Amino acid sequence: MDYMDEKVKNDLSSRILMALVLMTFCIILLRESAGFMDPKAKYFSRHELGVTHVLVTGGAGYIGSHAALRLLKDGHRVTIVDNLSRGNMGAIKILQDLFPELGRLQFIHADLGNAKAVNRIFRENAFNAVMHFAAVAYVGESTVEPLRYYHNITSNTLLILEAMARHNVNTLIYSSTCATYGEPEKMPITEETPQFPINPYGKAKKMAEDIIIDFSKTTSMTVMILRYFNVIGSDPEGRLGEAPRAELHEHGWISGACFDAGRGIIPGLKIRGTDYKTPDGTCIRDYIDVSDLVDAHVKALAHAQLGKLGIYNVGTGQGKSVKEFVEACKRAIGKDINVEYLSRRPGDYAEVYSYPSKIRRELNWTAQHTNLQISLQIAWRWQKSHVNGYGPPTIVS
Ligand SMILES: *[C@@H]1O[C@H](CO)[C@@H](O)[C@H](O)[C@H]1NC(C)=O
Ligand SMILES: *[C@@H]1O[C@H](CO)[C@@H](O)[C@H](O)[C@H]1NC(C)=O
Ligand SMILES: *[C@@H]1O[C@H](CO)[C@@H](O)[C@H](O)[C@H]1NC(C)=O
Repeated sequence: MDYMDEKVKNDLSSRILMALVLMTFCIILLRESAGFMDPKAKYFSRHELGVTHVLVTGGAGYIGSHAALRLLKDGHRVTIVDNLSRGNMGAIKILQDLFPELGRLQFIHADLGNAKAVNRIFRENAFNAVMHFAAVAYVGESTVEPLRYYHNITSNTLLILEAMARHNVNTLIYSSTCATYGEPEKMPITEETPQFPINPYGKAKKMAEDIIIDFSKTTSMTVMILRYFNVIGSDPEGRLGEAPRAELHEHGWISGACFDAGRGIIPGLKIRGTDYKTPDGTCIRDYIDVSDLVDAHVKALAHAQLGKLGIYNVGTGQGKSVKEFVEACKRAIGKDINVEYLSRRPGDYAEVYSYPSKIRRELNWTAQHTNLQISLQIAWRWQKSHVNGYGPPTIVS
């Protein structure tokens, strides 16, 4: 009798049920829509317990890419921001191939001088810490184009600091340099050695440091400033290397000259100044292997405590003369190199080396790769197999 009625009732309740299911589904869909459209985004836009998400600026560059590799290897989540004006897309590709899993590595092609872009990056991502590597870094170039240096070092650092403050990112590891000390009267250089930089590069870095330090005093931000000495070497497993733009070779560092000589691009090495008051008459520098340098960053990150300001020299503490460097270079590349002895270059000073006891005491860091020849050999292996560096820069978006 009521059979029909019963059926209508059943129909109605199943329809209501269906509607409820659909509604729930829609709500879930809406809530996940950001992640739904780009499955990667949700990993980077949210904090995750036990995962440290590090923004690596300049992560396509020489030191930045090595740091990103180490952070990824240690299980951190990494966002690289680089505008590829000095960095290499090839280095990013290698890192992406090594860590293809969702939520491990993200590359954002953006210009750190663009405040809008920087703010957007901080708004859309949940960073725990920033390692700020991005910079132009050639003393010679800085004397010719000082504005480029003040703009891209000092002003860009200010922008990043402002974005960090606005978005509550509280840990900054800053790449600085022994060039901020200028020509100290006393060696070795400690963190208390007065800073009187003598070129726009050193001055721009010193200004950026001052801005960071002053700001850190007014906030609970953790700041670790690492002042690098002369960085050499590359990834011992040969995945990454140093590949400066061709037009920058003339400004390059001494190891670049060694490899160029090894490849026959330049006729030989020039030693400028053999009458310094040093044991063999040539300048003395402190060469730090990039693996050790990156390890110092990881230790600085691990020791970051809220409100702490740490300033550390990152060097070996062992000065090596230019002559020793040239000998190590010859052995590393397995060739004799023509060496030309010239008079002193204006602005060079006899000795620069660090006293790395503060960083050992406070961060338990010491340089492990202090054999010049081995560091150069590793780098030379990469150079030999990458005659064109990472190849022509291509932009993938
Ligand atoms: C990188 O940034 C600079 C400004 O700092 C800009 O002039 C340049 O065009 C940018 N390069 C690329 C490849 O976007
Ligand atoms: C640095 O700043 C200058 C402006 O002074 C700009 O033209 C240049 O493209 C910037 N980028 C680099 C990598 O030098
Ligand atoms: C310091 O580092 C060494 C070697 O990396 C390690 O064996 C040691 O346990 C560390 N000490 C502390 C106090 O963390």
